[in-house]
Amino acid sequence: MPIKTIEWTGGADGAARLIDQTLLPTELKYLDVTDVETMWEAIKVLRVRGAPAIGIAAAFGLYLAVRNSHTVDTTNFKAEVDKAAAYLASSRPTAVNLFWALKRIQRLVDTNAGQPVPSIKEMMLAEAIAMIDEDNAVCRAIGEYGATLLVGQADSLPYRILTHCNAGGLATAQWGTALAPVYVAAEQGRHIHVYADETRPLLQGARLTAWELQQAGIPVTLITDNMAATVMSQGKVNAVIVGTDRVASNGDVANKIGTFGVAILAKEFGIPFYVAAPTSSIDMSLASGDLIPIEERKPEEVTEGFGKRTAPTGVDVYNPAFDVTPHRYVTALITEKGIVRPPFHVSLHDLFAR
Ligand code: MRU
Repeated sequence: MPIKTIEWTGGADGAARLIDQTLLPTELKYLDVTDVETMWEAIKVLRVRGAPAIGIAAAFGLYLAVRNSHTVDTTNFKAEVDKAAAYLASSRPTAVNLFWALKRIQRLVDTNAGQPVPSIKEMMLAEAIAMIDEDNAVCRAIGEYGATLLVGQADSLPYRILTHCNAGGLATAQWGTALAPVYVAAEQGRHIHVYADETRPLLQGARLTAWELQQAGIPVTLITDNMAATVMSQGKVNAVIVGTDRVASNGDVANKIGTFGVAILAKEFGIPFYVAAPTSSIDMSLASGDLIPIEERKPEEVTEGFGKRTAPTGVDVYNPAFDVTPHRYVTALITEKGIVRPPFHVSLHDLFAR
């Protein structure tokens, strides 16, 4: 069973405990976060990362921001909540789960404006904690639907999946999205093998995906990003499964930089390209992926990514953290409500109408 990425410890005056993912794979260290500034920084520098995990982290961050507020006036309290939500929302722009989680807590505060402030604070914490159980159920459902897709290979042979970045347990509360079908299939006694793209520049595939699969005892082979074409051409990949930070209503998918290239390769080699997408990552307000805000990160992630300078000082760098894969490359989206296939502008609409 994957380990818990984020949880709440103690009562109302407790802490959000999260794995500091910047230290993996060499050190497994937990960080107890007790104030909103530390949570903002943890999200910004990727101590906690992955769309669903940062949503949960932001929900705890919002509670932490106002738990010591002295105001008894609900209007003032709501203003404090909204200000803290805007602050947390400024940490990272692409994963819609961050905004989804903040809005959910803000709505709760609005709906309960008639209650005393201490009760609203209690409800905020309870809602953030509930998001963990919910995330576990969502990931489990994605795992079960996704596992049904991993077929068509003789039982004696491993079913081989290629993934990019980390959309495993470390990117959610515990189970992961793209890796959930792998965990479920393994539980069912099936033989699964994962190729993990290293994922330059921050190496989430090498540092995190390879680490968590090793911990879970799932066979994993690490490749650098530029090896994917060779591995696919050698017939070593049965399916690609990746996660997402935001899906537009037409099925365009934002995910870690490099995902688009993997999708193009998969199409070239006739390999299905699946995206594990909890409905909290689907942004029906956006008509297409070109409206998804793409985070740009600091040049040092590219020039000193291995803790050592690997490029000349002063060189111009472009460092977008995500790309958008056009929907025509996506074979299916795996959601907690079922598998969604093209045409996505119709199937996603139907999914949310259910
Ligand atoms: O920059 P990161 O590490 O937060 O990027 C994470 C990803 O791109 C994941 O694939 C995505 O958030 C989905 S996580 C279930």
